[in-house]
Amino acid sequence: MAADGVTVEIPKSGDGVLANGVLVTGTDDYPLSVMQHHLGLEKTPTPTLPGKTLSLGEGYSRLLPALADNGNDVTGIDLWYHSDIYPGSYDGKQMRAFNEKYRKHLIRGTATKLPADDESFDHVVSHELVNNVPLEVQRAIVMEAVRVTARGGDTRLFGFKETDARATVAAVEEKYGAAVTTRLEKHASDFLHPYAGRVSLSGWLLIVDKAK
Ligand SMILES: C[S@@+](CC[C@H](N)C(=O)[O-])C[C@H]1O[C@@H](n2cnc3c(N)ncnc32)[C@H](O)[C@@H]1O
Repeated sequence: MAADGVTVEIPKSGDGVLANGVLVTGTDDYPLSVMQHHLGLEKTPTPTLPGKTLSLGEGYSRLLPALADNGNDVTGIDLWYHSDIYPGSYDGKQMRAFNEKYRKHLIRGTATKLPADDESFDHVVSHELVNNVPLEVQRAIVMEAVRVTARGGDTRLFGFKETDARATVAAVEEKYGAAVTTRLEKHASDFLHPYAGRVSLSGWLLIVDKAK
Protein backbone atom coordinates (compact mmCIF):
# COMPACT_ATOMS: atom_id res chain seq x y z
CA MET A 1 0.00 0.00 0.00
CA ALA A 2 1.47 3.37 -0.89
CA ALA A 3 0.49 7.03 -0.66
CA ASP A 4 2.46 10.31 -0.81
CA GLY A 5 5.86 8.64 -0.88
CA VAL A 6 5.01 6.29 2.01
CA THR A 7 4.89 2.54 1.57
CA VAL A 8 3.17 0.53 4.27
CA GLU A 9 3.62 -3.22 4.26
CA ILE A 10 3.39 -6.25 6.48
CA PRO A 11 6.83 -7.89 6.83
CA LYS A 12 7.41 -11.46 5.61
CA SER A 13 7.38 -12.64 9.22
CA GLY A 14 3.75 -11.52 9.36
CA ASP A 15 4.42 -9.54 12.53
CA GLY A 16 3.81 -5.80 12.68
CA VAL A 17 3.77 -3.16 9.98
CA LEU A 18 6.62 -1.43 8.16
CA ALA A 19 6.35 2.22 7.09
CA ASN A 20 9.04 2.89 4.48
CA GLY A 21 10.87 -0.15 5.82
CA VAL A 22 10.81 1.00 9.48
CA LEU A 23 8.89 -1.11 11.98
CA VAL A 24 6.03 0.84 13.53
CA THR A 25 5.73 0.24 17.25
CA GLY A 26 3.09 1.28 19.69
CA THR A 27 1.26 0.88 22.94
CA ASP A 28 2.16 -2.80 23.39
CA ASP A 29 5.87 -2.32 22.90
CA TYR A 30 7.03 0.10 25.56
CA PRO A 31 5.36 0.90 28.87
CA LEU A 32 5.10 4.63 29.50
CA SER A 33 7.50 4.41 32.45
CA VAL A 34 10.16 2.87 30.17
CA MET A 35 9.70 5.59 27.54
CA GLN A 36 9.92 8.27 30.22
CA HIS A 37 13.11 6.72 31.59
CA HIS A 38 14.71 6.48 28.14
CA LEU A 39 13.91 10.15 27.51
CA GLY A 40 14.94 11.32 30.99
CA LEU A 41 11.36 12.46 31.68
CA GLU A 42 10.58 10.22 34.64
CA LYS A 43 10.65 12.90 37.31
CA THR A 44 6.86 13.12 37.40
CA PRO A 45 4.62 10.03 37.14
CA THR A 46 2.71 11.66 34.29
CA PRO A 47 4.93 13.50 31.86
CA THR A 48 4.58 17.26 31.91
CA LEU A 49 6.35 19.49 29.43
CA PRO A 50 5.58 23.21 29.53
CA GLY A 51 5.05 24.96 26.21
CA LYS A 52 4.84 23.19 22.86
CA THR A 53 6.20 19.67 22.30
CA LEU A 54 6.85 17.81 19.06
CA SER A 55 7.28 14.00 19.07
CA LEU A 56 9.15 12.62 16.06
CA GLY A 57 8.27 9.13 14.77
CA GLU A 58 5.59 8.87 17.43
CA GLY A 59 4.04 5.69 15.96
CA TYR A 60 1.08 4.79 18.16
CA SER A 61 3.03 4.92 21.40
CA ARG A 62 1.95 5.76 24.93
CA LEU A 63 3.94 9.01 25.04
CA LEU A 64 1.73 11.40 23.06
CA PRO A 65 -1.48 10.16 24.73
CA ALA A 66 0.06 10.60 28.20
CA LEU A 67 1.12 14.15 27.36
CA ALA A 68 -2.10 15.07 25.54
CA ASP A 69 -4.39 13.54 28.18
CA ASN A 70 -2.45 15.48 30.84
CA GLY A 71 -3.23 18.78 29.10
CA ASN A 72 0.14 19.31 27.37
CA ASP A 73 0.33 20.99 23.97
CA VAL A 74 1.83 18.10 22.00
CA THR A 75 2.06 17.27 18.30
CA GLY A 76 3.19 13.93 16.89
CA ILE A 77 4.67 13.51 13.44
CA ASP A 78 5.00 10.21 11.62
CA LEU A 79 5.05 9.00 8.03
CA TRP A 80 1.66 7.36 8.17
CA TYR A 81 -0.77 9.69 9.97
CA HIS A 82 -3.91 10.98 8.24
CA SER A 83 -3.65 8.28 5.65
CA ASP A 84 -6.09 5.70 4.35
CA ILE A 85 -3.47 3.02 3.94
CA TYR A 86 -3.90 1.13 7.18
CA PRO A 87 -3.65 -2.63 6.68
CA GLY A 88 -6.37 -4.79 8.26
CA SER A 89 -3.79 -6.44 10.55
CA TYR A 90 -3.58 -5.88 14.33
CA ASP A 91 -1.05 -3.04 14.02
CA GLY A 92 -2.94 -1.52 11.11
CA LYS A 93 -6.09 -1.40 13.24
CA GLN A 94 -4.13 0.06 16.16
CA MET A 95 -2.76 2.78 13.88
CA ARG A 96 -6.19 3.61 12.57
CA ALA A 97 -7.66 3.88 16.07
CA PHE A 98 -4.74 6.04 17.31
CA ASN A 99 -5.07 8.30 14.29
CA GLU A 100 -8.81 8.76 14.91
CA LYS A 101 -8.47 9.40 18.64
CA TYR A 102 -5.52 11.81 18.54
CA ARG A 103 -6.20 13.25 15.07
CA LYS A 104 -5.89 16.90 16.09
CA HIS A 105 -2.45 16.26 17.64
CA LEU A 106 -1.00 14.43 14.62
CA ILE A 107 0.67 15.57 11.44
CA ARG A 108 1.96 13.46 8.60
CA GLY A 109 5.44 14.07 7.31
CA THR A 110 9.06 13.18 7.67
CA ALA A 111 11.32 14.13 10.55
CA THR A 112 14.08 14.76 8.00
CA LYS A 113 12.20 17.81 6.69
CA LEU A 114 9.90 19.05 9.41
CA PRO A 115 6.90 21.14 8.35
CA ALA A 116 7.62 23.61 11.16
CA ASP A 117 9.22 27.04 11.49
CA ASP A 118 12.60 27.57 13.11
CA GLU A 119 12.42 27.65 16.93
CA SER A 120 8.70 26.84 16.98
CA PHE A 121 8.70 24.07 19.66
CA ASP A 122 9.90 24.24 23.27
CA HIS A 123 10.63 20.50 23.36
CA VAL A 124 11.35 18.00 20.62
CA VAL A 125 11.34 14.36 21.70
CA SER A 126 11.81 11.09 19.89
CA HIS A 127 11.81 7.51 21.13
CA GLU A 128 13.33 4.73 19.03
CA LEU A 129 13.28 6.50 15.68
CA VAL A 130 16.98 7.28 15.19
CA ASN A 131 18.05 3.67 15.80
CA ASN A 132 15.86 2.51 12.91
CA VAL A 133 17.30 4.71 10.16
CA PRO A 134 20.71 5.01 8.48
CA LEU A 135 23.34 7.40 9.86
CA GLU A 136 22.78 10.15 7.27
CA VAL A 137 19.03 10.08 8.02
CA GLN A 138 19.76 10.23 11.77
CA ARG A 139 21.93 13.26 11.17
CA ALA A 140 19.20 15.01 9.15
CA ILE A 141 16.64 14.26 11.88
CA VAL A 142 18.85 15.69 14.63
CA MET A 143 19.59 18.84 12.62
CA GLU A 144 15.89 19.36 11.96
CA ALA A 145 15.02 18.75 15.61
CA VAL A 146 17.52 21.36 16.77
CA ARG A 147 16.38 23.82 14.09
CA VAL A 148 12.76 23.78 15.28
CA THR A 149 13.67 23.89 19.00
CA ALA A 150 13.06 27.29 20.58
CA ARG A 151 15.70 29.19 22.54
CA GLY A 152 15.57 27.98 26.12
CA GLY A 153 14.07 24.69 24.92
CA ASP A 154 15.50 21.22 24.43
CA THR A 155 15.71 18.27 22.06
CA ARG A 156 15.69 14.72 23.50
CA LEU A 157 16.25 11.84 21.11
CA PHE A 158 16.63 8.28 22.39
CA GLY A 159 18.00 5.21 20.67
CA PHE A 160 21.49 6.06 19.44
CA LYS A 161 24.52 3.85 19.43
CA GLU A 162 27.29 5.67 21.26
CA THR A 163 29.62 6.19 18.28
CA ASP A 164 26.79 7.44 16.04
CA ALA A 165 25.63 9.80 18.77
CA ARG A 166 29.13 11.24 19.30
CA ALA A 167 29.56 11.89 15.56
CA THR A 168 26.18 13.61 15.47
CA VAL A 169 27.00 15.71 18.54
CA ALA A 170 30.14 16.97 16.80
CA ALA A 171 28.05 18.02 13.77
CA VAL A 172 25.50 19.84 15.96
CA GLU A 173 28.23 21.64 17.92
CA GLU A 174 29.99 22.66 14.73
CA LYS A 175 26.79 24.20 13.35
CA TYR A 176 25.40 25.81 16.53
CA GLY A 177 28.50 26.46 18.66
CA ALA A 178 27.76 28.28 21.93
CA ALA A 179 24.04 28.43 21.09
CA VAL A 180 23.69 24.83 22.29
CA THR A 181 24.81 22.55 25.11
CA THR A 182 24.83 18.84 24.35
CA ARG A 183 24.65 15.88 26.71
CA LEU A 184 24.81 12.15 26.04
CA GLU A 185 23.42 9.71 28.60
CA LYS A 186 23.22 5.94 28.46
CA HIS A 187 19.80 4.70 29.55
CA ALA A 188 18.92 1.05 30.08
CA SER A 189 15.69 -0.72 30.92
CA ASP A 190 14.43 -4.19 31.65
CA PHE A 191 10.72 -4.91 31.37
CA LEU A 192 8.16 -7.57 30.60
CA HIS A 193 6.89 -7.33 27.02
CA PRO A 194 3.42 -8.81 26.46
CA TYR A 195 4.63 -11.06 23.61
CA ALA A 196 8.43 -11.07 23.66
CA GLY A 197 8.86 -11.83 27.38
CA ARG A 198 11.59 -10.09 29.35
CA VAL A 199 13.25 -7.38 27.25
CA SER A 200 16.50 -5.62 28.13
CA LEU A 201 17.18 -2.46 26.19
CA SER A 202 19.91 0.10 26.27
CA GLY A 203 20.59 3.10 24.11
CA TRP A 204 21.98 6.60 24.22
CA LEU A 205 19.88 9.65 24.85
CA LEU A 206 21.05 12.83 23.14
CA ILE A 207 19.91 16.02 24.83
CA VAL A 208 20.51 19.34 23.12
CA ASP A 209 19.69 22.41 25.22
CA LYS A 210 19.35 25.63 23.26
CA ALA A 211 20.57 28.76 25.01
CA LYS A 212 18.03 31.55 25.59
C1 LIG B 1 10.22 1.90 16.02
S1 LIG B 1 8.89 2.98 15.74
C2 LIG B 1 8.87 3.94 17.25
C3 LIG B 1 7.49 4.43 17.57
C4 LIG B 1 7.34 5.07 18.96
N1 LIG B 1 8.10 6.30 19.05
C5 LIG B 1 7.72 4.10 20.05
O1 LIG B 1 8.73 4.33 20.71
O2 LIG B 1 7.01 3.10 20.21
C6 LIG B 1 9.55 4.14 14.57
C7 LIG B 1 8.48 5.09 14.03
O3 LIG B 1 9.13 6.08 13.23
C8 LIG B 1 8.35 6.32 12.07
N2 LIG B 1 9.27 6.87 11.06
C9 LIG B 1 10.20 6.22 10.31
N3 LIG B 1 10.87 7.09 9.56
C10 LIG B 1 10.36 8.32 9.83
C11 LIG B 1 10.62 9.62 9.36
N4 LIG B 1 11.57 9.85 8.45
N5 LIG B 1 9.89 10.65 9.86
C12 LIG B 1 8.92 10.45 10.78
N6 LIG B 1 8.62 9.23 11.27
C13 LIG B 1 9.32 8.18 10.80
C14 LIG B 1 7.76 4.96 11.74
O4 LIG B 1 6.61 5.07 10.92
C15 LIG B 1 7.46 4.41 13.14
O5 LIG B 1 6.17 4.75 13.56
